[in-house]
Amino acid sequence: MTSPDIQRAATILRAGGVVAFPTETVYGLGGDAGRSETIARIFAVKGRPLDNPLIVHVADQTGLEAVAAEVSPLARRLAEHFWPGPLTLVVQATDAVRPATAGLDTVAVRVPDHPVAQALLLAAGIPVAAPSANRSGRPSPTTAAHVRADLGGDVDFVLDGGPCTVGVESTVVDARGVVPVVLRPGAVTAEELAAVAPSTANGAQPHRSPGTRHAHYQPSCRVEIAPPGMGAARAGELAAAGQRVAVLASTPADSGVHELGPFTGTADLARRLYGALREAERLAVDVIVVEAVAPEGIGRAVMDRLERAAGVGFPPPADA
Ligand code: TXA
Ligand code: MG
Repeated sequence: MTSPDIQRAATILRAGGVVAFPTETVYGLGGDAGRSETIARIFAVKGRPLDNPLIVHVADQTGLEAVAAEVSPLARRLAEHFWPGPLTLVVQATDAVRPATAGLDTVAVRVPDHPVAQALLLAAGIPVAAPSANRSGRPSPTTAAHVRADLGGDVDFVLDGGPCTVGVESTVVDARGVVPVVLRPGAVTAEELAAVAPSTANGAQPHRSPGTRHAHYQPSCRVEIAPPGMGAARAGELAAAGQRVAVLASTPADSGVHELGPFTGTADLARRLYGALREAERLAVDVIVVEAVAPEGIGRAVMDRLERAAGVGFPPPADA
């Protein structure tokens, strides 16, 4: 990854092409947020449902003012506090980014905290719509190799910035009102948000982003969630019963199972989860056992993604 690579990627974006690029959370598949044909191509390459809007990436807060019809005092405060970083703000949209909004009158905007993403956005000088660079329904990519495995020759360029440091996606917050409303849990924790802008809502949020309606993040093997501390034991049990097993747990597993950990804490699990799901698939195991963590801090986003990967609450359609 060199500066000429960034220039090349920026030129492709400005010409209406699509480029995969690293962020601190996951890799994105970017294109000019103002061009309908580019956005249509992003949806086609991913196989993404057309009613699921894209996040628009900008270099700084000035970029927000350019794509938002109105920036509330709350949005401004959150942007000042959390950008660059893994917080996405939903605000009233301008026509400049209409293609990315899937017909909504709002747009989701974020400033990624990654030197390559920053350099790319500055060089391109346009708002860049970018969903995660996976095929729809699959685990999000946290390395350039994951992007190539899913999208291969369907993208014009892949910028390789190494492995993502956070590993789960940004927190999506509706920032139009006076209190933040979390639409998707993510890397900025509820606790961090509450410290800056207390929310009146507590407990389960009835509001969700369109993209959280569907099952997601699923590898081709079965995903089983083990209780905290029990991952290695559960993996051993399944292996003893004759299954081919991979495990991502807080303690090392016995021989006879594919060890994908151990993870050292919740942030480490966040970083490794999507890669482990893909690795289990490559190993062609019957099941990957992932050990649960407490749903607090970034653990809330980790458990949300893990439950979706395991299909918890998302039964397959009757004819599947
Ligand atoms: O960390 C991330 O957010 C990554 C990196 C690449 O920035 N991007 C990402 O994009 O996760 P994607 O497309 O996989 O997820 C975007 C989420 C979806 O759940 C979508 O429904 C929601 O953001 N979203 C986008 N625009 C919205 C809007 N106007 N209102 C509510 N939710 C919105
Ligand atoms: Mg995604």
